[in-house]
Amino acid sequence: MTIPVELLQRLAGAKSVTVLTGAGVSAESGVPTFRDALTGLWAKFSPEELATPDAFRRNPRLVWEWYQWRRKLVAGAEPNPAHLALAELATLFPRFHLITQNVDGLHQRAGSWNVIELHGNITRTKCSDEGTIVSAWKDTGNVPPKCPACGALLRPDVVWFGEPMPAPEMRQAMTASTHCDFFFSIGTSTVVYPAAALPSEALRSGATVVEINPQPTPFTPQAHFALAGVAGVVLPELVKALKACRRA
Ligand code: OAD
Repeated sequence: MTIPVELLQRLAGAKSVTVLTGAGVSAESGVPTFRDALTGLWAKFSPEELATPDAFRRNPRLVWEWYQWRRKLVAGAEPNPAHLALAELATLFPRFHLITQNVDGLHQRAGSWNVIELHGNITRTKCSDEGTIVSAWKDTGNVPPKCPACGALLRPDVVWFGEPMPAPEMRQAMTASTHCDFFFSIGTSTVVYPAAALPSEALRSGATVVEINPQPTPFTPQAHFALAGVAGVVLPELVKALKACRRA
């Protein structure tokens, strides 16, 4: 794909860049997205049964085991060229913020730092009562295991439907989106709020907004540039073209 020259010229002059990523960025690592018709997780499982506080109250074992399955999938996955390109992109600007809705930790494994995780991280576990992060517990055969401090059930440290975003991360994400001169929305269907509002916030604040997604989304008509391709191909090309543009 040829990256538009105007995009490159504007990006080359940017001082502050913010990126929002969604499940599509990890698709090429073999981690299923949520909404893609045939492969997405919600095509096979119902969010109401698995990713809500009610689901956990009703059937904690089912929810815990589903997350154990996803944890294994994520542990076996490797960062792909999109994750690596974003880690490199961060080194090319004085200010760079990476906001992700993904819980898989693949950005960090690719070398990105200070990642703003809006939906938590599947590799962490917390007490379902007190919310404290728990890193070790006794295996008593109980599924889910129990909190060593208070005996409540343990759960993954992710945001479920119906739960609020972590306030500090949401604040950081909002500031990063409204104080940048370039904003990328990559691999997200932009239908789950409040994360889905961030590209529009960036637009309203005067940033140039670029979407990278093989499919159109509700945000596509508003983007200054919509690059219709997979992130693992488009992002490495973009980084290469940007470096060439700066050398020229
Ligand atoms: P979705 O599954 O809703 O959307 C994935 C997007 O990635 C779609 O628009 C695809 O077209 C696009 N896509 C697929 N493959 C791609 C690729 N190789 N490169 C670039 N884009 C690609 O995932 P999210 O938008 O991340 O929340 O979903 C947002 C939230 O909804 C998730 O964090 C999760 C989910 O329910 C919770 O669990 C709270």
